[in-house]
Amino acid sequence: MHDSEIVDNLLTFLTAGHETTALALAWTFDRLGRHPEILRAVQQEIDSTLTDDAPGMEQLDKLELTRNVLRESMRLTPPAPIIIREVKEAFTLDSVTLEKGTRLVVPIYALHRHRALWDAPEVFDPARFLPQEGKDRPQDDRYAYMPFGAGPRVCIGARFAETEALLVLAMTLKELTLTPELRVTPPGKMEITLRPAKPLLMSVKTRQ
Ligand code: HEM
Repeated sequence: MHDSEIVDNLLTFLTAGHETTALALAWTFDRLGRHPEILRAVQQEIDSTLTDDAPGMEQLDKLELTRNVLRESMRLTPPAPIIIREVKEAFTLDSVTLEKGTRLVVPIYALHRHRALWDAPEVFDPARFLPQEGKDRPQDDRYAYMPFGAGPRVCIGARFAETEALLVLAMTLKELTLTPELRVTPPGKMEITLRPAKPLLMSVKTRQ
């Protein structure tokens, strides 16, 4: 690779990796602060699972509720709310012909809240990510739940991002309780990523 390509790649990793993960965490802290019973259960899970200050993958893998909270939070507020593709060759989909050069928007945010796919889509319910035998769950459908995209250009950092976010959530909530200062969660604002329209002010207290 040329130096310029290396620089471009590093920049992509920083922008694609930092902003998205930071937003996933911000939305999740706000969401948990508004569901104190779920926050308490998450903190209990963390207290009983993390035995030291540098948990490895083995301990993180056991944080089932915390992981499901993160997944459910990314369903309702996906940091990357849309992805865009350009038609390379004209083709017909159903009765619609898409010309070469047409831009297609895949509305991840809308898919994640689609009534035909999800029960009570507006409700924050991490339990929907629990394994359920014999039930077709939308979150198992590759194209119904896709916070990291799908197909050949799926997020290269997905596994890393989930691990990183889980670690930050666990290490923070082990020591601190965050409570939203705003009466309601501000709406999302599309700026390539899905940012809160106002800063998510929170008060921070040390746990007993
Ligand atoms: C919660 C965190 C993250 C979310 C929600 C997210 C979301 C996404 C999505 C939806 C795509 C697909 C874009 C498309 O199809 O046009 C993507 C691609 C990508 N992501 Fe992430 N991402 C996250 C974290 C990361 C991290 C931590 C890294 C790097 C360390 C990263 C690096 C990339 C790169 C390089 C691509 C382009 C892959 C390609 O085109 O082959 N992302 N991400």
